[in-house]
Amino acid sequence: MKYISVKEAAKKFGINERRVRVLLKQKRIEGAIYKDHKYLIPENANKPLDRRIKGQRLFEDSPLNDLDFDFKNYRKKFPTDDGYFGRYGGSYIPNNLKKAMEEIYFGYQTIAKSSKFIAELREIRKNYQGRPTPIYHCQNLSNYLGRVQIYLKREDLNHGGAHKLNNAMGQALLAKYLGKKKLIAETGAGSHGSAVAMAAAYFGLECDVYMGEVDMAKQAPNVARIKVLGANVIPVSAGTKTLKEAVDAAFEAFAKEYKTAFYVMGSAVGPHPYPLMVRDFQEVIGREAKQQFLEMTGELPDIVAACVGGGSNSIGMFEDFLAEPVNIVGVEAMGTGKEPGKNSATMTLGKEMVLHGFNSLVLQNEDGTAGDAYSIASGLDYPGVGPEHAFLKEIGRVKYEYVTDDEAAEAFFLLSRLEGIIPGIESSHAVA
Ligand SMILES: Cc1ncc(COP(=O)(O)O)c(C=O)c1O
Repeated sequence: MKYISVKEAAKKFGINERRVRVLLKQKRIEGAIYKDHKYLIPENANKPLDRRIKGQRLFEDSPLNDLDFDFKNYRKKFPTDDGYFGRYGGSYIPNNLKKAMEEIYFGYQTIAKSSKFIAELREIRKNYQGRPTPIYHCQNLSNYLGRVQIYLKREDLNHGGAHKLNNAMGQALLAKYLGKKKLIAETGAGSHGSAVAMAAAYFGLECDVYMGEVDMAKQAPNVARIKVLGANVIPVSAGTKTLKEAVDAAFEAFAKEYKTAFYVMGSAVGPHPYPLMVRDFQEVIGREAKQQFLEMTGELPDIVAACVGGGSNSIGMFEDFLAEPVNIVGVEAMGTGKEPGKNSATMTLGKEMVLHGFNSLVLQNEDGTAGDAYSIASGLDYPGVGPEHAFLKEIGRVKYEYVTDDEAAEAFFLLSRLEGIIPGIESSHAVA
């Protein structure tokens, strides 16, 4: 019989060498032998189907091995009824917004759980958004890098070109059921703004999108898109003229107009129930990805990674993998350096405080006020982060790493030139 090495088997099976060694130790590759300190694998051996999905076993060298936490019931327990993920989350809002938030909370808990709502959203996702989006094996990029097989969940193929519409259509549908006439939103990169403008057009609602002047200049094509879709873009000139100030301005407008308007929050941030609602509307990403990956490869991925701005695409991707033996990595923006004002690395450099109505990790100035965030990616330059991420970091379930502007730009060109896929500069952080 002809035998091949671990390296050759890894290539043949499309998995990494470490995984092949784990499979060999578990005696799951038929006919394999151990001779002269080397594994020999029959050339015609089949790739074993993954069994890890049935158990909760983690990799032998996983940093998560001694994690004592029941992820099977995680979604039922977190957030708590008052919106907490451990210490993080909650609802810290002025009195004039309390009524508005209560209406949204009860609307979400009742209307959005009804079979009619779920059926309508499902139909929108299939026929309007074009879901499910595929996963794609980056063969060229994987060959170029070696020792790793990279797959992308193609949220860029979701209608509108990003994951943002998953959430915008969900919240806009709720707004319609609540009888609202207008959608109000903040936007950084313009991606969420475009998604809300699309949702407003679809449901026949008015739409005001608040956007910092710096972001408007950086993201001019998205500003034009929002206007083409019939929405108003309202420039915000306060502070750094980016996402933080756009959120402030949009909240102010909502406090005045909440009787007739609905605030569509663009990320897994804000007062309860927004982090919960956004997570639930984005959870489709990971649910689809897990099933598609299993169908394509017969096993779970070793690592799931996503970029973290406010944290909506990442929480959507991570949620369905939390209870699985998969390493999970969130990637945030280190911009041009660790000094204040040069990055958006909230999970790495932030401290606990309340911003925009919720308690989480936030970049801070020396005097304890919220600091300025920067990233080449407008969609990542927010000084706070979703409370669930702060919690998942604290309990050690998700690792948060950072990538600089230059590293993200390099990944952006690498993926574009090797695969013909131009990623968002936000997503490029995860690619890096
Ligand atoms: C393509 C893309 N990815 C990621 C993000 C970051 O947001 P979040 O962390 O909420 O997914 C944005 C934000 O605008 C975006 O446009």
